Amino acid sequence: MTVSADFDWEPLRELAREAMSHAYAPYSGYPVGVAALVDDGRTVSGCNVENASYGLGLCAECGLVSELQRTGGGRLTHFTCVDGRGEILVPCGRCRQLLYEFGGPDLLLETPAGILPLSEMLPQAFGPDHLTSK
Ligand code: THU
Repeated sequence: MTVSADFDWEPLRELAREAMSHAYAPYSGYPVGVAALVDDGRTVSGCNVENASYGLGLCAECGLVSELQRTGGGRLTHFTCVDGRGEILVPCGRCRQLLYEFGGPDLLLETPAGILPLSEMLPQAFGPDHLTSK
């Protein structure tokens, strides 16, 4: 696939930073914000929401995919993630799987190593097709 060089990531990054400012991360002290563009032009975002029962904490991406579905679904095309300083962050492994469900291998991610398709961040991904290809 061709990685579009003219896509302006800054507005998406700003949306992720704004989302990060709403994070509830009293246990880790590590706020995270994410934002994505949807194929119909919508944007969606999320922040991490932790819990006193530590293992129940929700990554920022959980909020993002929830908002995606709640606001009409669609496919994610561009995604960015920032830490508490607003710097670009890689999504954790579990969240790459969440993103794969709604963006597939061609979803573009802004990473510290540049713009990469999800297929490079989650090679040989298990996905919806596996459940229907028997
Ligand atoms: N975190 C996210 O929200 N998304 C990621 O992709 C990486 C990790 C959160 C989970 C936890 O609240 C905090 O960062 C520290 O791990």
